Amino acid sequence: MIRFSPIVISLLVLFNGCTDRQQPLSELIDEQLSFAVEQYKGMHAIVPADRLPRSTHMETGELVTSDSRWWCSGFFPGSLWYLYEYTGDEMLKEMAMARTALVEEEQYNTGTHDLGFMLNNAFGNGVRIAGIEAYKPVMINGAYSLMTRYNETVGCIKSWDHGNWTFPVIIDNMMNLEYLMWAFRETGDTAFYDACVSHSDNTMENHFRDDYSSYHLVDYDTITGEVLGRQTVQGYADESAWARGQSWGFYGYVTMFRESGDNKYLDQAVNIADFLLSHPNMPEDGVPYWDFNAPEIPDAPRDASAGAILASGLIELSGFVADEDAETYLAFAEKIVRTLSSPKYRAEAGSNNYFILEHSVGHLPKNSEVDVPLTYADYYFIEALLRLNALN
Ligand code: GLY
Repeated sequence: MIRFSPIVISLLVLFNGCTDRQQPLSELIDEQLSFAVEQYKGMHAIVPADRLPRSTHMETGELVTSDSRWWCSGFFPGSLWYLYEYTGDEMLKEMAMARTALVEEEQYNTGTHDLGFMLNNAFGNGVRIAGIEAYKPVMINGAYSLMTRYNETVGCIKSWDHGNWTFPVIIDNMMNLEYLMWAFRETGDTAFYDACVSHSDNTMENHFRDDYSSYHLVDYDTITGEVLGRQTVQGYADESAWARGQSWGFYGYVTMFRESGDNKYLDQAVNIADFLLSHPNMPEDGVPYWDFNAPEIPDAPRDASAGAILASGLIELSGFVADEDAETYLAFAEKIVRTLSSPKYRAEAGSNNYFILEHSVGHLPKNSEVDVPLTYADYYFIEALLRLNALN
């Protein structure tokens, strides 16, 4: 029988204790952002110069790319801008500029509400991070294109032109308001501000249930402004809480509080956060199932994108509330970020077609982009890491 001396036993106990301890947050942030830099340089190398990454094919695992018209076209350039902000690496700036240029034509696109994702993430981050003045006219044109979708009677921005609805507004649309608030500050045109406030107020009134969960889509009558119907498109059921939609709405109200200073938006964001964080179907590790009411829970797919958006919004929210609440929100955000940084979600170097995260869900009812990487999961993961970094 092998006998260990008391000193060796103490060292073994100490070593074992060390392996159980959490990695210090600042070390984790640096490690994950450094990984993101290498991974995204790799992605820039494999994605054709005139295309943008989108996902990987569900069956073959091959890289799926898009042109600028896909609603996610701004996320890759936006992430490159964030990584340039983190590193100051001129190579990343060149990559960001090259991919941003691909989205430029969308400034004239009046056929979608997604211009915030497309233009603000790409050109907006270029303005904010690198001070590129030449991007501003593109941004302003795009903001006026988006405003063509605002209807005074409804008091909202129309989301989609397809489908059989009269005037569909999806909860995701809250994510475009940051862009229009930028346009208001830049141009002084109060129409932008008024549209954002009206859209936020009507969404608060019509999209949310008493428990602060949200419908995916509300259809409006353009003659009377009345609600014609409420339903889901990407969620499990009309009355369910589609996870990414909850994250979009939450993040949107945090942003609207930051941009307007109006406490009603802060209250809304807090109420949504409390609904989500205390939900019985919120997993212990903080990364939501694709829908909070998915019948297959606990075997339902998780949605890393919903987790990343929620984490980033919670970090910002923590700066607006009393210390005790701030601690709760930050602790939850840190939990999500740690989960997403673990091998359960984060890809191995050079794998996953150079996406950072695995396991997101795009549109499960259509069996499209289920359990795949998505550019917006990566974007909000990077954003959450940068926001945590700024606090540490
Ligand atoms: N905005 C579309 C989605 O979240 O899937």
